[in-house]
Amino acid sequence: NQDVKEIKNNTLFFDGCDTTKLAATYGTPLYVMSYTDIKNRLQELKQDFTDRYPGARIAYASKAFCTEAMYEILKQEGACIDVVSGGELFAAQKVNFPAEYVEFNGNNKTPAEIDQAVEYGVGRIILDGLQEVALIEEACKKYDKKMNIMIRITPGVAASTHDYIVTGKKDSKFGIPLDEEVFMPIVKSVIDSQYLEFVGLHMHIGSQLFENEAFLEALDVLMDWAKKIKDTYGAVIREVNFGGGFGVTYTDEERKPYRFFLDPLMERLKKRADEMEIECPAAVIEPGRSMVAEAGITLYTIGQIKEIKGLRKYISVDGGMGDNIRVALYQAEYTGVLANKAEETPDEVVTVCGKYCESGDIILHDFKVPHSVEMGDLLATYSTGAYGYSMASNYNNNPIPGVVMVKEGKSDWIVKPQTYEQIMQNNRIPEFL
Ligand code: LLP
Repeated sequence: NQDVKEIKNNTLFFDGCDTTKLAATYGTPLYVMSYTDIKNRLQELKQDFTDRYPGARIAYASKAFCTEAMYEILKQEGACIDVVSGGELFAAQKVNFPAEYVEFNGNNKTPAEIDQAVEYGVGRIILDGLQEVALIEEACKKYDKKMNIMIRITPGVAASTHDYIVTGKKDSKFGIPLDEEVFMPIVKSVIDSQYLEFVGLHMHIGSQLFENEAFLEALDVLMDWAKKIKDTYGAVIREVNFGGGFGVTYTDEERKPYRFFLDPLMERLKKRADEMEIECPAAVIEPGRSMVAEAGITLYTIGQIKEIKGLRKYISVDGGMGDNIRVALYQAEYTGVLANKAEETPDEVVTVCGKYCESGDIILHDFKVPHSVEMGDLLATYSTGAYGYSMASNYNNNPIPGVVMVKEGKSDWIVKPQTYEQIMQNNRIPEFL
């Protein structure tokens, strides 16, 4: 992907927009999302995947960045989305996202969420447990509908990434454990149900991955069970969902093209299907992070600067863990630039901290800035487009920053910043006080 970041006149430009002007116009902290980067990423997926493999689908994992504008882009491009809550589904409904292009994941979908999904008529429900079967059937009966069901397995492979974002290992709350007595009866209940259509199997092994061994290992497990299902019940899988997890560049990770993961997976899928003497199932992927992480930067204004002699220099910004919890939660590392002094030599190592009342509220550990750094300078952190805005919080009653979308020099809000009024709007003082 061509980098949409550009440095000229000592200033950072992002998708053709001068970031100092963005900060002046929209204020800070500010999330900025590049339309061009998202569009290029979709193009790459088209070339590497959907155009090459018949029936292949992209179901963008909404959790990475769920906004109406993002859904609108995906809608225009004919992509599908994966939602994991009534709230994400509601957002999709707001932009009239085609129901059949919505896939509903989640390890504990509530009865109300299942009702909402069935009423809307989502394209796939990814079954993640025994109790869900009856809930889906009940809703199908109510709306007189039949739902397409993918069954999510827990493949039991250990992908190498942060422990908190491993989802496919055996001890996991996600997926159905591959225990003969647990798994097969669930599959049977789907196959036998007059309300459910068994479509295929789903897996997701983890996030921020750079190798494909774990993917292939998990796919083999998945296909072993597909064979068992065919041999036992005669039912054939028509689709396989590989999940998401494709790694991105935060600091110096080397991002792999989608085909690095997808070509070997498709080859293996085809081989396994041939061995089973079935038609090659259609493949679906659920990329989240890899579609939006690098499309986003966050702009902050620098405030207090504190030097602890012989130890550390703290540079504080006007945002922090409320707009990016990933540093505190996963020890995630980012990089960035002083956007208004982008060509000055970064010769001083500092710790960039936020304004939240928490020692762990750090944005950048050991970050190099020009020694001229001072209050009022503009900091841009890179690769904040995924799981930043979507995991934002109101800790300390700080409003969640707004999101501006930029496209070749144009800019506009896609999410307005929260106001204090909005933070407080659901507060009530009870009668008995
Ligand atoms: N599909 C399923 C079933 C998932 O559970 C996930 C992520 C994805 C797709 C998308 O994975 P991606 O392509 O974004 O890696 N908040 C964490 C990430 C949690 C991911 C959970 N599931 C973070 O900020 O790193």
